[in-house]
Amino acid sequence: TAPGLLDQYGRRATDMRLSLTDKCNLRCTYCMPAEGLEWLSKQAVMSAEEIVRIVRIGVELLGVRELRLTGGEPLVRADLLDIIAALRSNHPELPISMTTNGVGLDKKAAALKAAGLTRINVSLDSLHEETFTKLTRRPFLDRVLAGVDAAWAAGLGPVKLNAVLMRGINDTESPSLLAWALDRGYELRFIEQMPLDADHGWTRRNMITAAEIRTLLSRDFVLSPDPRARDGAPAERFEVRRRAAGTAGPDSPVLDTEGLVSAADVHRPEGVEAPPEAHGPVLGTVGIIASVTEPFCSDCRRTRITAEGKIMSCLFSREEFDLLGLLREGASDQALAERWQDAMWVKPKAHGMDHTGLGAADFVQPDRSMSAIGG
Ligand code: GTP
Ligand code: 5AD
Ligand code: SF4
Repeated sequence: TAPGLLDQYGRRATDMRLSLTDKCNLRCTYCMPAEGLEWLSKQAVMSAEEIVRIVRIGVELLGVRELRLTGGEPLVRADLLDIIAALRSNHPELPISMTTNGVGLDKKAAALKAAGLTRINVSLDSLHEETFTKLTRRPFLDRVLAGVDAAWAAGLGPVKLNAVLMRGINDTESPSLLAWALDRGYELRFIEQMPLDADHGWTRRNMITAAEIRTLLSRDFVLSPDPRARDGAPAERFEVRRRAAGTAGPDSPVLDTEGLVSAADVHRPEGVEAPPEAHGPVLGTVGIIASVTEPFCSDCRRTRITAEGKIMSCLFSREEFDLLGLLREGASDQALAERWQDAMWVKPKAHGMDHTGLGAADFVQPDRSMSAIGG
């Protein structure tokens, strides 16, 4: 078979992330400005037929083995069910998952499953109405919670939940968010905020790091590495046990007067923590997505198509390759596959925003925000 979507550093992209729309009905502060963005015209966005063709080329000619539908918010697309049904009929075995904000999912979960969707991830940053509304700028917490439960009930599990932690807003809520997810059997992942907000308000100081997340959780929980292979996934997974009473461990957090924690400043008492097993049974798993401080670019298997049919080899690639334009000019499958390969060949080695690159002049925040790239 063809060499697939290789890059010059030897990585092969098999995981395709396809954005169905740039629109969204939330305005998460880490992603979109309050007033929204200037939406693409209907004509500028890939049609259902174009999407189906592009996916077929990816799967049949280029070795794509997994598809994830993203946005903006994929549920706002009126022909979503038709798209999924068409993809499923072409590709009976392809895992097709979707990342959604969950608004409206309660009404659509069963139909999504019936159309052929495999799995769902839902963004959920807080269980407190006020905090949720502050973060997303929309009062839709109840609708999202209903959506998560409906996805589970419809057989779209395992349901994974994504929480971006924001300093002083939802960071200290992380242990109770995890307890809630464990109770219900959902796999929660905490995400380091990346500089992909439209307001360019990201700062290193405001980002809650993976080290801080582990510290925050260690008051109530004991984490140990999940033995399952990571397989290029963004999330590093941990088995979770509830911390046995009276065993404040060497990782227990220290909160300063403003309620801030800093892993570097944490006071670690003498002594060795008891082995995880001593704390009791594993309650579930938690993921930590440390895109900034513990980047996983060297093992990246992702290729992205934006809603307007541009190939992005990376969230942070500076160059976009127009696949949809070529398709509309009447190009053959082979020509489209070649453009896709050309785009992936120049995938950046790494995003450069970890401690070596960030702060240094060589990291530039992309013009596009997360919603315009596809989450
Ligand atoms: P599964 O675990 O297979 O369900 O998928 P996933 O975690 O890859 O998918 P999801 O869409 O839920 O993405 C979760 C988070 O991972 C996103 O919100 C991003 O923060 C991060 N992420 C996804 N793709 C990339 C990527 O290409 N680069 C980086 N740095 N982060 C990514
Ligand atoms: N940094 C990290 N994750 C982000 N997401 C949106 N914007 C950012 C950002 N700036 C996440 C959301 C959602 C997924 C699509 O992307 O939490 O789960
Ligand atoms: Fe919408 Fe997702 Fe961006 Fe939030 S993170 S504004 S839900 S696209």
